[in-house]
Amino acid sequence: MGMREEATKRVAAFWGDRPHAACILTFGCQQNEADSEKLRGMAHEMGYTDTAEPGDADLILLNTCAIREHAEQKILSYLGRFKEYRQKNPALVIGVCGCMTAQEHRVKQLKERYPQVSFTLDPASLPDFPRVLEEVLMGEGRRFLRGDDAPEITEGLPISRVLTHRAWVSIMYGCNNFCSYCIVPYVRGRERSRASGEILAEVKDLIAGGCRDITLLGQNVNSYRGDCDFATLLERVAALDGDFLVRFMTSHPKDVPDSLIAVMAKYPDKIAPQFHLPLQSGSNEILKRMNRKYTVETYLATVEKLRAAIPDLVLSTDLIVGFPGETDADFAATLDIVKRVRFDMIYSFLYSPRKGTPAAVMEEQVSPDDQKTRMAGLLRVQDEIALSLGEQYVGRTVRVLVDAKGKDAGALSGRTAGGRLIHFSGEPSLIGQFVQVTVERAEPYALRGRIAELERNIHK
Ligand code: 5AD
Ligand code: SF4
Repeated sequence: MGMREEATKRVAAFWGDRPHAACILTFGCQQNEADSEKLRGMAHEMGYTDTAEPGDADLILLNTCAIREHAEQKILSYLGRFKEYRQKNPALVIGVCGCMTAQEHRVKQLKERYPQVSFTLDPASLPDFPRVLEEVLMGEGRRFLRGDDAPEITEGLPISRVLTHRAWVSIMYGCNNFCSYCIVPYVRGRERSRASGEILAEVKDLIAGGCRDITLLGQNVNSYRGDCDFATLLERVAALDGDFLVRFMTSHPKDVPDSLIAVMAKYPDKIAPQFHLPLQSGSNEILKRMNRKYTVETYLATVEKLRAAIPDLVLSTDLIVGFPGETDADFAATLDIVKRVRFDMIYSFLYSPRKGTPAAVMEEQVSPDDQKTRMAGLLRVQDEIALSLGEQYVGRTVRVLVDAKGKDAGALSGRTAGGRLIHFSGEPSLIGQFVQVTVERAEPYALRGRIAELERNIHK
């Protein structure tokens, strides 16, 4: 038995027959959602049940994000509120894990100013969760774990997934790109890829369990270097039997190979016609300062190739507004590209300086007022584009995987193959199934429609 299994057993024995509940709160990206499913899996093995209410928990775990200052401030304010629970229940254990805890200055702050925090666990130390928890429960004091920059991948961690019909599968961890604004390479370490056999086995299990939609996850999937490259891995997944769609994120525009586009075109029924390609800025000068290693021209050429090869491609991007040194002309160049490309979706962020990154100490930081004015202008332009792209769907019937119940009675929502959000009415028993929906109306961020026919599930 390994260290983790032994610690798991001892924590379970510590609780014995006494009920114990864990509240795991997740902030940030899909990678964190995927990590939380592993944390939950490990918690279940230690006998914890789930609770969504931190006030009822014996263990509160915050899986944190460090991508922008706002995310970190939100987490610190949560921790402030949890102090009260700790006073009411002195046995309550509060742990903080995820990207925030891979930064020395944050760990120092938590150590000194947040005595209610019993342990921190950086992303590299995730498999050590049972051991750290055991030490804390045994009264060995507070623990602050910081792992290696390139830890070996631990396979075989239990995963307790939130959904059965939709799943994330991590194919690689870390990032080597060091974009000048980004904290990720510092908090998630160097790129490491899982072996393709491990990934395929996990995907096969998911499909056998009724999963219909699988997202292969990595900070830059095109850097996947297991025993094959990413295009080959994607093809092996797409070639598996079953009624499912595979999608992936994120791709870096510097290296979208033709072989990947060819694989997507070859499996239109299995690989979702969706591509997330973060542009960040439409100005070559800014891209250079961001250390992005591509130009607006090469980006546009990639978009053209993708659109030529994949019908109905849903294209999305990330944009940073107000990067240091961004002039009105640079921002106008971004707007220009947004209008030319006509993205289905954009995720836009106000630039946020991250301690330890090169951009944080660049001169010419853009004032918050200018940032906000530019952001408002960008959203205005994009809302109009998104609406007019959505309107092109009106009257068409599309295949939708039903995700969830909406707020009103009988309301459902789901995603098209390309990942567009769509609302319609129907029975909650359809959740997790594919249905045909006729689009009746478009809004900037969603479509609305009605069910055209029920598909019989031929594949088990
Ligand atoms: N400030 C603002 N946005 C950022 N992103 C990454 N770092 C920062 C930062 N310091 C954005 C990028 C990235 C997305 C996940 O978050 O657009 O693609
Ligand atoms: Fe950050 Fe750039 Fe790596 Fe993406 S590719 S995680 S933006 S450093």
